[in-house]
Amino acid sequence: MFDASTLQDKVVFIAGGTSGINLGIAKGMAAVGAKVAVLGRNAEKAAAAAQDITDSIGGHAAIALTADVRDPEQVEAALVSCVEQFGKIDCLISGAAGNFPAPAVGISPKGFKTVVDIDLIGTYNVFHLGFKHVNKDASMIAITAPQAVQVMPFQVHVCAAKAGINMMIKCLAVEWGAAGVTVNGISPGPINGTEGAERLAPTPEAKAHMAHKIASKRFGETKDIADAAIYLASDLGRYVNGTIFTVDGGTELGDASIDCLTAPKR
Ligand code: COA
Ligand code: NAP
Repeated sequence: MFDASTLQDKVVFIAGGTSGINLGIAKGMAAVGAKVAVLGRNAEKAAAAAQDITDSIGGHAAIALTADVRDPEQVEAALVSCVEQFGKIDCLISGAAGNFPAPAVGISPKGFKTVVDIDLIGTYNVFHLGFKHVNKDASMIAITAPQAVQVMPFQVHVCAAKAGINMMIKCLAVEWGAAGVTVNGISPGPINGTEGAERLAPTPEAKAHMAHKIASKRFGETKDIADAAIYLASDLGRYVNGTIFTVDGGTELGDASIDCLTAPKR
């Protein structure tokens, strides 16, 4: 479906693109022709991520940017830097997030605010400030999560923040569609080898337990999410607007463990 030129000449700005799922998106997009700017708080980590992408693709495939998405001035400076270095932004991805599983009684107001600030306010900062920098037919993508629509214990802060992101996506799609800009979300299920999945399921037993409850009976891979992002950023996804692209093996459907029944055999 995709080839080396699917995102040829496209410039992608990825907030939170220096590790995990978002770095997987950056690598996947660079492999099909995009130039990518990866952004995180840690400058060394960002530089290593950009170098990793450039080493595997060659040329000038990636640049590193440093900013905290909670700080509008830092976000604006990073957007300007991307346009100065790559000339434009065709796809703007907001994927920075913070998560720590904790019972509500153990999450202080500051702890709750921290996650809402990074995930929800951070996404608003990236999209609101990015709107004036992106191309006319740009694609904006927020990385949301099953917690936006599925209740999870010890995740009150993340559920609240990601639910807000899902509504923000739809509001911005309605307001910015006339400008030619699309705004969509991608909702990954638990993805192997990522910080987010490690925090929610830190042991092999916890991973097996979580996977058993998913309809597809397994975690996803970063490539699953990269493919969805490439689709939305490419010409193939131009008429997709205001949706949440759910790529989660059925996680969002709820507990799919059917131990008391007989699973159908084919
Ligand atoms: N349980 C309860 N509260 C916690 C916590 C935990 N496990 N971990 C952090 N907090 C609270 C802190 O106690 C603090 O509140 P307090 O001062 O009232 O105690 C508040 O959260 C802010 O913590 P701090 O470490 O200062 O924030 P930070 O901005 O440096 O880091 C985090 C943000 C906490 C989200 C950090 O985990 C992070 O940077 N995460 C990014 C990576 C990540 O989460 N990846 C998964 C993405 S799904
Ligand atoms: P990750 O590896 O921890 O990546 C988080 C990225 O965001 C890093 O680049 C990090 O770099 C950056 N970041 C964090 N806080 C930031 C801030 N305040 N300002 C700027 N950058 C910041 O996370 P992940 O597990 O791959 O998750 C990526 C996204 O997918 C998140 O939106 C998450 O909610 C979503 N998601 C993940 C899963 C999963 O299974 N992992 C499932 C569903 C949804 P620095 O630390 O250097 O800042």
